[in-house]
Amino acid sequence: MSAKQGSESRKALRFRFRGADVALDRFSPRATLLDWLREEKGAKGVKEGCGEGDCGACTVVLSRPRPSGSVDYKAVNACVMLLGQVDGAEVITVEDLAEGKDLHPVQQAMVDLHGSQCGFCTPGIVMSLFALYQSHERASRAAICDQLAGNLCRCTGYRPILDAAFATCVAKPEDRFARFAGERRAALEGLADDRDLFVGDEQRFFAAPASEATLAELYGRHKDATLLGGATDVGLWITKALSDLKKIIWLGRVKGFDRIEDSAEALDFYAMAGLDAALEPLAALHPDLREIMRRFGSAQVRAAGTIGGNVANGSPIGDTPPVFIALDATVELRLGAATRTLPIEKFFVAYGRQDRRAGEYLRRVHVPKLKSNQQFRSYKVSKRFDEDISAVMSAFRFTLDGRRIAEARLAYGGMAATPKRASGAEAALHGASLDDRASWKKALDAIASDFTPMTDQRASAAYRSKVAANLLLKALTEVAGGDGLTRIGELRAAE
Ligand SMILES: Cc1cc2nc3c(=O)[nH]c(=O)nc-3n(C[C@H](O)[C@H](O)[C@H](O)COP(=O)(O)OP(=O)(O)OC[C@H]3O[C@@H](n4cnc5c(N)ncnc54)[C@H](O)[C@@H]3O)c2cc1C
Ligand code: FES
Ligand code: FES
Repeated sequence: MSAKQGSESRKALRFRFRGADVALDRFSPRATLLDWLREEKGAKGVKEGCGEGDCGACTVVLSRPRPSGSVDYKAVNACVMLLGQVDGAEVITVEDLAEGKDLHPVQQAMVDLHGSQCGFCTPGIVMSLFALYQSHERASRAAICDQLAGNLCRCTGYRPILDAAFATCVAKPEDRFARFAGERRAALEGLADDRDLFVGDEQRFFAAPASEATLAELYGRHKDATLLGGATDVGLWITKALSDLKKIIWLGRVKGFDRIEDSAEALDFYAMAGLDAALEPLAALHPDLREIMRRFGSAQVRAAGTIGGNVANGSPIGDTPPVFIALDATVELRLGAATRTLPIEKFFVAYGRQDRRAGEYLRRVHVPKLKSNQQFRSYKVSKRFDEDISAVMSAFRFTLDGRRIAEARLAYGGMAATPKRASGAEAALHGASLDDRASWKKALDAIASDFTPMTDQRASAAYRSKVAANLLLKALTEVAGGDGLTRIGELRAAE
């Protein structure tokens, strides 16, 4: 924001809360939504459990207008969401649901069907179900379980909670949120503008540029600022590492930055493309990616987190980087007015270090689609099925010449300090036959020398190496179309 733009920028955060507009022209850039709700507003129904996005006790719902004309309701974790990220939204907490003495249908069902014992998790569970109630006319058991995967209940047990969901999330919503949807949408539209947001001063601020031009200019001037996507990582720097982030640039208002372009040849994810929005396009690219994205964190994490954040954080155990590496994706970076493109694998230089210059940001991830002679597989291995970080993440793309492997791109997470290709195994597969399992052996053996994984609380080094080779064997077996069932309790036998 140049001096001129700065004078034109909006100096107050604006959102809706308890039926009224809120404008805040002073707040700490690192303030979380949870702290504001509990400490400033006394909304003690919003609980704090883990403070790191894992338990769902702090779940609230953010509502925003959709381009289609309706209103969107997303459950998010208030503990790892920064206050500034609610700009332009309505914040709905458990205190907002009842109409006078009448509980919301979801709350009433939780009472009637005994969905609560100690009650600590209950507000979060109610808010997750409230979001589902608004968005699903007939939620399936699978959709209900997905919605609740990020809500931990330690004492009631989930059966009565599922009963409450089955009793309510199965018809068109009829609560006052649905009855007054038009008014709510109009009120939210009243908040919309295309001005940059800048709250604070040059030393300490929360900024949300409205265009790429002002983003590039502002970040160029404040290279020490923290870029913020969904805050599902950055939020933990605050709640767990107690980092004093003084300058925050949130990318959530940059026009067009959340788009996903889908052409015949490729998918293009702009940095703020949501993890939830990315699910269907990735699932259309290959069915394995539906499951990978479904198991990414929880509904709350996917509602806030972004593709850009998952790539830019450079985590060795992020789920999308191995997928994108296997698919030969490229990233586009921008510094000032200049952009450059590089293969995504080159972006990950070393642990905690990416090829990103001061003031440069990740703009776009370009992901080529599969060609007719290419086969793809991707598997995630984690201790817990849902809401868990990978112990080993894998993605494989095989380019075939008839029944021979002309090229293999084998990418892993959890096996090295960065997401990384198994180059020895790739070379060993060159020319291997899908009909000759003996020709796969060298590649399976090569995994042991391609990586020296570490032992940590998620898995031992030996386990990781074994699993990595076995996942490759599984992929080859499936692609070869031979041995029958390769997936236990899962969607699909080998094709
Ligand atoms: C409970 C929980 C479960 C999780 N489960 C998973 C999981 O299953 N799989 C997985 O891979 N991850 C998981 N994560 C980690 C996290 O959700 C993901 O990495 C997510 O994609 C981060 O995206 P974000 O938009 O929230 O990033 P943020 O937290 O906003 O940012 C992350 C990093 O990227 C930088 N950044 C963001 N956008 C840009 C940009 N455009 N250019 C340059 N730098 C940028 C930020 O400065 C920061 O360093 C989980 C996290 C939590 C809290
Ligand atoms: S307090 Fe546990 S997810 Fe927020
Ligand atoms: S009712 Fe006690 S944790 Fe769920």
